[in-house]
Amino acid sequence: MTLPSPVPFPLARPRRLRQSAWVRDLVAENRLHVSDLIWPIFVHDRDVAREPISSLQGVDRLSIAEAVKEAKEAQALGIKVLALFPHLDEKIRNADATAAVDPDGLIAQTCRAVKAAVPGIGLLVDIALDPYTDHGHDGLIVGDRIVNDATVEMLVEQALVLSEAGADIVAPSDMMDGRVLAIRTALEAKGHQDTMIMSYAAKYASAFYGPYRDAIGVKALKGDKKTYQMDSSNTDEALREVAMDIAEGADMVMVKPGLPYLDIVRRVSETFRMPTFVYQVSGEYAMIKAAVAQGYMDHDRAVLETLLAFKRAGASGVLTYFAKSVAEQLKA
Ligand code: PBG
Repeated sequence: MTLPSPVPFPLARPRRLRQSAWVRDLVAENRLHVSDLIWPIFVHDRDVAREPISSLQGVDRLSIAEAVKEAKEAQALGIKVLALFPHLDEKIRNADATAAVDPDGLIAQTCRAVKAAVPGIGLLVDIALDPYTDHGHDGLIVGDRIVNDATVEMLVEQALVLSEAGADIVAPSDMMDGRVLAIRTALEAKGHQDTMIMSYAAKYASAFYGPYRDAIGVKALKGDKKTYQMDSSNTDEALREVAMDIAEGADMVMVKPGLPYLDIVRRVSETFRMPTFVYQVSGEYAMIKAAVAQGYMDHDRAVLETLLAFKRAGASGVLTYFAKSVAEQLKA
């Protein structure tokens, strides 16, 4: 798009359109709406309603009953979708991640409970093995390798079990190759043709996931995730990853993390014109909370500014731990 040649001062005075709140609102190019927000919550299997997560100030792990309560509140605030993440007792985790495919596992139970009590809310579930393995990797390990194809078989099972339990959107976050096609094929074969897939299509190996690992109870991750998650140096590769996932049957795609990868959000949304989501991840959340706690900046303004940045970059919506507080802010 070419811009018209600039009108000289004083015919043009850009400040005319900034002189008061009403005119700034009138000419705003981007807006944040509550329906842009997806709220990730953590569910646990312990006997207490809520348990604080030390790395994520203001975020608690919830019992299923408490998650249902939060779902009701979220819906009343206009939030359309919750993303569910489990924190499991260490005894349940093992090398084979068998709990990931348990039809009565924590997330399956949470899906059923929330769907029964709050039928109108959308449920997104993460498809990956890391909350279920004792080593914290997203896939199965053979020797010293995270193996691709055997992991994909587990992910397919996990997607079927959770779709059966009522999840509306399955979101593979594992970055194994070919998992979207395998999940889509299995969903079609088993009568789940309406289950949506939001693929974590361009997911980078990032330091910004640190607090999340604490939230789901990964104690010490052996090594890193660089053999499956993307290298931060790359941008063309993100386009190839997204193209593959769309061709394999993804309905929506995601870029992750958020602010450090805004250029990717822009390129993906412009290139594919698909519903493109962005995950403002735990480290981004924690950074803002830490700065606010020090008194360095205003919480609400800083949060809104980051979310608008995603909209400017072309995102259709944002997964963010700030969702509920932003929804309250937007309502006020
Ligand atoms: C795991 C998964 C991760 C996140 C969502 N799903 C972490 C990882 O890949 O190590 C990160 C979320 C966050 O940091 O907020 N498959």
